[in-house]
Amino acid sequence: MSNEIQFFQLNTGAKIPSVGLGTWQSDPGVVGQAVAAAIKIGYRHIDCAQIYGNEKEIGSVLKKLFEDGVVKREDLWITSKLWNTDHAPEDVPLALDRTLKDLQLDYVDLYLIHWPAPMKKGSQGFKPENLVQPNIPATWKAMEALYDSGKARAIGVSNFSSKKLGDLLEVARIPPAVNQVECHPSWQQDKLRDFCKSKGVHLSGYSPLGSPGTTWLKSDVLNHPVINVIAEKLGKTPAQVALRWGLQKGNSVLPKSTNEARIKQNFDVFDWTIPEDLLAKFSEIEQARLLRGASFVHETYGGYRSLEEFWDGEI
Ligand code: A2P
Repeated sequence: MSNEIQFFQLNTGAKIPSVGLGTWQSDPGVVGQAVAAAIKIGYRHIDCAQIYGNEKEIGSVLKKLFEDGVVKREDLWITSKLWNTDHAPEDVPLALDRTLKDLQLDYVDLYLIHWPAPMKKGSQGFKPENLVQPNIPATWKAMEALYDSGKARAIGVSNFSSKKLGDLLEVARIPPAVNQVECHPSWQQDKLRDFCKSKGVHLSGYSPLGSPGTTWLKSDVLNHPVINVIAEKLGKTPAQVALRWGLQKGNSVLPKSTNEARIKQNFDVFDWTIPEDLLAKFSEIEQARLLRGASFVHETYGGYRSLEEFWDGEI
């Protein structure tokens, strides 16, 4: 096996590269060099979002990489996401246009509804009074129009429970191609993965390392004894084991790093496998969702009164 990137086929027929560079919390000033390093190493998939506040810098770097002949647009997979304040159907195309302008692109390969939790147009921050009632079917119709226009070559969702995804599939003319959700050895998403698989929706895993740099999360995935024992046995790092686990589960994985050595390390996951007996050990890892979405739940405001309701029991 060579260390060549692998792909997963979506229900659109397109092939999504199985490892993508995450850019959440990659600050302006460092995100550009991270994207350039990743692409030179061989990454062909960059996971972006308007709310990350760094799409402009990513756009400048992509332009330079295209001009310098380092990579061709058609060989790259760029994902971006519709922020919560732009769910109103008339705002959806404007939001994508803004992202395309920032990224200096004519189209994205995948555009996702970032959260099923709309907030007041133009509002900033996570104040409960910014939350408004969701109307996912209406937002989705506007997403479908973006697909029709070719500006989004695939459309999907993020942070959707099985129930919310199922409800959307009932009304969708174009089914979502992807559900991008938190997924790592300490939040394995077995139920959602099975549901997605049964419906032909690809599960893409964010925070595949358990987001160790996020100080407000109690993350310890990379220090888990099961992961460390397996890493030692295979002569790999805990991060590589976590990513390889995701790939073997059939997820694409989106590790974030702004450090060149770690960006490289996170890509060295194609020419080896975790054998079945070690894979079975992942079931011993206790499960806990890290990103609970508490800001999207309120007793008065928005569409969700409890986390139970927000995740439809998948907590
Ligand atoms: P850094 O950007 O300094 O490399 P996740 O993708 O699960 O959200 O995790 C991202 C966090 O994990 C970041 O803090 C990142 O820091 C760190 N990280 C990325 N790659 C590795 C690695 N191979 N080993 C350890 N930590 C890593």
